[in-house]
Parts: sequence; structure tokens; C-alpha cells
Amino acid sequence: MAKAFCSMKRKELEAFLQDVDGFDKPKVLLEQYPTTPHIAACMLHTVASTFDDLAGKSVADLGVGCGILAIGAEMLGASYVLGIDIDEDALSVCANNLEEFEMTNVDLLKANVRHLARCSELASRLQGKFDTVVMNPPFGTKHNQGIDVDFLQTGLKLSSNALYSLHKSSTREHILKKAQSWGVEATVLAELRYNLDNTLKFHKKKSVDIDVDFIRLVHTQDSLHRQKDMLS
Ligand SMILES: C[S@@+](CC[C@H](N)C(=O)[O-])C[C@H]1O[C@@H](n2cnc3c(N)ncnc32)[C@H](O)[C@@H]1O
Repeated sequence: MAKAFCSMKRKELEAFLQDVDGFDKPKVLLEQYPTTPHIAACMLHTVASTFDDLAGKSVADLGVGCGILAIGAEMLGASYVLGIDIDEDALSVCANNLEEFEMTNVDLLKANVRHLARCSELASRLQGKFDTVVMNPPFGTKHNQGIDVDFLQTGLKLSSNALYSLHKSSTREHILKKAQSWGVEATVLAELRYNLDNTLKFHKKKSVDIDVDFIRLVHTQDSLHRQKDMLS
């Protein structure tokens, strides 16, 4: 599969993404639940077709996991994708998937996205280097409080334009308030039902449905100025 398929239909993309291997042993503390092919295809197809934010664009995928969003982004024409994850095991599965899918424009970086939000040296090197950021961050369980917001802050640093992310609908007000305080424009594009099957130990039921918001954040002149000031 050497070529990008910018005009690929959502269903075709979803069918290809069925072949992306998931986590071997998902880690509860890292909230390793993969984006389903259906949700990944809906997200990426919207990013590409409604907003033209993938074809020919450089993309960062924060918390890349096994790579479903990174692979889909390249399939829809991204010129370059950087996938970042804290977990060596996830990155190893991701590297295998990239090989299977013959993805040539995706690099992987092992890093803690939370630290990246605060590490000014690396942040300034990567600041604004990506047109588009896509991610399905940890929701922020009791062990991980605030990680969803840290992912957003890092994503906004890396992106010169738009960021697309998934968040529990129950946190909508909190996320929209944060966005307002950073001076970025935020839109909830869709409310999706995320079906977590029983892969993570703490889920007692066979499967759990969670309502998630698919959100788009876009920089404004104001937010870009604020970032420059923070790093100077
Ligand atoms: C909900 S999973 C999403 C995985 C993948 N992007 C997908 O869509 O299937 C969250 C990912 O974030 C990673 N992660 C958790 N904490 C992290 C951190 N502090 N820094 C970087 N990655 C982290 C996990 O290892 C996991 O791969």
C-alpha cells in the first residue's frame, strides 16, 4: 500500500484500519484502549474532507499507541506523521503495524507528553512544526488527573493550526473553558459512543459504552502570541 488515498471513502478507510493490530497487554495506568476502526475512520475522514487538514500536511499523533490514527492520516495523504508515546511496548506494536502497512512517512518518538507540555527546550524545538495534531488521549482517570488537558496543551504547542481530539462528553464544559482561557477556538464536531470492550482489567462489565466528544481546536492570533510569549 505505497500510495496515499486522499479521496478514499470512509468505509474503505475503516476496512483497511481493521487490520491494525492492537495492544498485546494493554496497561490500565496508561489508559491503553485503542480507537476503533469505525471511530478512527469517522474522525480522520472529517479532518480530511470537511477541513482539508490532512492531505499534504504534517501531522503529530500524541499517544500514538498502536498507530491507528497515524496510519489513517498517512492513508488520507498526510505528507509526514510523528507518533509520540511513552510506552516502549506500544511503540513496538506500532512499528510492526507501520511495516505491515508499508508506511514510509511516519516516525515514532518515545516521550512523556505531560513533560513535553512543560519542557521548554523540546517544546520550542517542536513548537508549531505540525499543521495538524490528532489524538485520542488518556481520559484522565483518578491516577491520571489532568492528563487530558496536558495532552491538549502539548498538542496546541506542536500545532500551527488545528488539533483534533476525543474527550469524555462529561468533561465538555471543563475542556471548553480551558480552550477559552488559552484563546483558542473550540468546536464539538460530534458526540460519539465509544465502546470499550473488556480489555482493561478494571472494567467489570463485558463492555462499557462511553460518550465522547470529537473536538476541534484552532489557533487564533491571540493564542499564537501567548505561546510565543511563554517560550521567550
Ligand atoms: C487511549 S490510548 C490511544 C492509543 C492510540 N492513539 C489509538 O488511537 O488507538 C492512549 C495512549 O496514550 C499513551 N500515553 C499514556 N500516557 C502517556 C504520556 N504521559 N505520554 C505519552 N503517551 C502516553 C498510552 O500508552 C496509549 O497508547
